[in-house]
Amino acid sequence: MQIIDGKQVAEQIKQEIAAEVQQIIARGGKRPHLAGVLVGHDGGSESYMSSKVKACEQCGFKSSLLRYEEDVTEQQLLDTITKLNRDDDVDGFIVQLPLPRHINEQRIIEAIDYRKDVDGFHPINVGRLSIGLPCFRSATPAGIIMLLERYGIDTRGKHCVVIGRSNIVGKPVASLLMQKSNPGNCTVTVCHSATPNIAEHTRQADILIAALGKPGFVTADMVRDGAVVIDVGTTRVPDATRKSGWRLCGDVDYEHVAPRCSYITPVPGGVGPMTIVSLMHNTLLAATHQIYQ
Ligand code: GUN
Repeated sequence: MQIIDGKQVAEQIKQEIAAEVQQIIARGGKRPHLAGVLVGHDGGSESYMSSKVKACEQCGFKSSLLRYEEDVTEQQLLDTITKLNRDDDVDGFIVQLPLPRHINEQRIIEAIDYRKDVDGFHPINVGRLSIGLPCFRSATPAGIIMLLERYGIDTRGKHCVVIGRSNIVGKPVASLLMQKSNPGNCTVTVCHSATPNIAEHTRQADILIAALGKPGFVTADMVRDGAVVIDVGTTRVPDATRKSGWRLCGDVDYEHVAPRCSYITPVPGGVGPMTIVSLMHNTLLAATHQIYQ
């Protein structure tokens, strides 16, 4: 069994990006600039956002954080998005989700110029991804693909089972892995909350991707010997032994599942750091106009 060290791969890719940024600056080019919009003070969103700002520093990007209180109106956010869309210095930007309930998330996502949508959430990027055209790929699925690539895991002709059908992870990762590409060329099954007997499906998986957000959901009896297991779960569970009072828990019962696997991602230190690095990669692609003019 080999542990997929997402933290290490992420550090390596950040160094590669930083080297590319140095070259851009040396040629007299502009420093890539990522902006983030953060609403409220949710602990998870705060920590994601501060990790993104830190990653920008490591990559040599400029970053701006625009903060709003929980009571911000949808119109105020839409006005901010219009400004960011028009700001030539901003190469890409994200609006951290989830948003308060009085704000229509889809309306916010669709207001973002798809050419600056480095989260890959705009329907134009989602649509282009699904038909295999160049686009900004949703960060977590893109990070998973990078891990499979860097570990030389052969996906061609393999049966991949995804648990979860979110717009951010389940659907796009299923789409990428069924694509006629490498990594890709998988036969993909997507299980979700309305699937009876999920274990019957997961036991057939050569590659199992757990992205449902239920701590410890995947148990050893659900996994075939030699499977590749990718754990996307990042639920905060109470832990009195930690200073913070919580720890991150994946969707996989790691202790019992790991011995059966050929490869497995740990939580933390697996998919999480790769998600942030994918966002950095998308920002570099935006700044260098490699996808859209
Ligand atoms: N909330 C959880 N994951 C993400 C993400 O990748 N991007 C944004 N904007 N919000 C999120």
